[in-house]
Amino acid sequence: MRDLILKALQQEERVSGEQLGKSLNISRTAVWKHVNELRKLGYTIDSSPRLGYSFISSTGLLLPEEISHGLDTRIIGKNIVYREEATSTQDVAEEMARNGAEDGTVVICERQTKGRGRKGRSWESPPLHGVYISIILRPSLRPTRVPQVPLVAGVATSRAIKRVTPLQPRIKWPNDIIIGGKKAGGILTEMSSEVDRVNYILLGIGVNVNTRTSLFPEPTRSIATSLAEQCGENVSRVKFVQCLLADMEAVYSQFLSSGFDAIREEWKALNNTIGSRVKVSSGDEELEGEALDIDREGFLLVRKENGDVSRVVSGDVMLTHRLSS
Ligand code: BTN
Repeated sequence: MRDLILKALQQEERVSGEQLGKSLNISRTAVWKHVNELRKLGYTIDSSPRLGYSFISSTGLLLPEEISHGLDTRIIGKNIVYREEATSTQDVAEEMARNGAEDGTVVICERQTKGRGRKGRSWESPPLHGVYISIILRPSLRPTRVPQVPLVAGVATSRAIKRVTPLQPRIKWPNDIIIGGKKAGGILTEMSSEVDRVNYILLGIGVNVNTRTSLFPEPTRSIATSLAEQCGENVSRVKFVQCLLADMEAVYSQFLSSGFDAIREEWKALNNTIGSRVKVSSGDEELEGEALDIDREGFLLVRKENGDVSRVVSGDVMLTHRLSS
């Protein structure tokens, strides 16, 4: 009911408690109670005894009511779970997935106390400026195809950034979001599977939207950036999350129906890795060479000094220098 009242207030310039109550089949007192709850959440709503209610401003928080308003997705974000604080959205999502949460459920929080990145690293997650979300996915995919999902998410995240800012994000294989040579976002994919089937995937996406990365500790500070730092002004986090969920649904549906081939060219157009000299650490191994391409499964092909080509399934890439433009 609270979201319906919010929607109605956002649509009308002014509306009386009586009109609102009639259209939603509740009493004026019930409307008044819901409006007060919305105020407690941080919405500014004006009221005058003669003219009724008028919506003034939103909370700036990533509340489900805010995100859902105008979000037109079929699966991703149909169910949004919000926490002011969590150890990690991945932890919340995992518990929900184990308890049967539906495909496309999104967990959002304002602050993570133990945000995690790939390869056991931590993810700086200060309150209210960044976006930290996990999406529960339940695809009918062979587990061997799951490494393609973060590449899909990298394309969706880049599309969303391009829609809300004038920036041109690039992707460092497999899925670091790079802007102005620094990292603005990252993607962490965790899953539960059996040998031949995926139970669920937890797709964690972190983007420094309005974050002041100068406050990060070193060494993160030197390699991190945010959308606001790169474009010189704050970006609406609500708008960004709405675009991200919609773009994720579009790219992911295409991937499920037509395979990774359908996404590969867009990923390649966005990437900054192919054509560079790279150092790749993958498990205990390190290899150096020229990044030639990604194959049809999304793995990185690297030509080593001796001319052999290695196919890298997962790893961390350091670009040493660019060989071609
Ligand atoms: C990386 O580049 O190392 C991946 C970073 C992923 C960070 C996101 S923030 C939301 C989700 N919850 C986490 O704890 N991590 C991911």
